Amino acid sequence: MQEDMDMHPDVERYIATEDELKGIVARLGRQISADYKGKKPLFVGVLRGCFIFMADLVRACDIDCTVDFMVVSSYGQGTTSTGAVKIIKDLTENIEGRDVIIVEDILDSGNTLSYLKNYMMARKPASIRIVTLLDKPERRVAPIKADYAGFTIPDAFVVGYGLDYSEKYRNLPYIGLLKPEIYS
Ligand code: IMP
Ligand code: MG
Repeated sequence: MQEDMDMHPDVERYIATEDELKGIVARLGRQISADYKGKKPLFVGVLRGCFIFMADLVRACDIDCTVDFMVVSSYGQGTTSTGAVKIIKDLTENIEGRDVIIVEDILDSGNTLSYLKNYMMARKPASIRIVTLLDKPERRVAPIKADYAGFTIPDAFVVGYGLDYSEKYRNLPYIGLLKPEIYS
């Protein structure tokens, strides 16, 4: 049981346990597999936050697919977005005519995804959808919605399962609420 595992001392409480994450990712995989039956989507992960979620998600998808990654920076060291998105590593694949599924760890202000969606649209894919593990709708400033979302969380800063604070905590196998004293 998760309760028997040691929770990191900087974490206040669990937002999603390992078991809950497994169930959520399995459901997303089933939905995507059904919707893309007979197609060969290209999953584009937004690094670094997506790396654990995407690894589990593609294994939960029962369809032929390929993967690519972009590296963007939007946050720096803090917990609030600057709104400026910088591309550090561009697409490797040509996405023209492809069914693209952008994979994000968390949809917060929406600045990153609205920028990336427009950026990819210009490259004429057949379709673009967004899958995000976490959604923080209260914080949205850009007009963007996820096509698939694992679950919705309130306005709080969370870490683990790929998500970081100042590059730490990505390796936690669960998602936890970071204690406010860690970042304030
Ligand atoms: P947005 O552009 O504001 O939607 O920010 C999206 C990015 O901010 C995500 O890909 C995360 O890297 C980061 N982010 C937003 N909220 C959190 C959080 O609660 N924990 C960790 N990273 C977060
Ligand atoms: Mg990040």
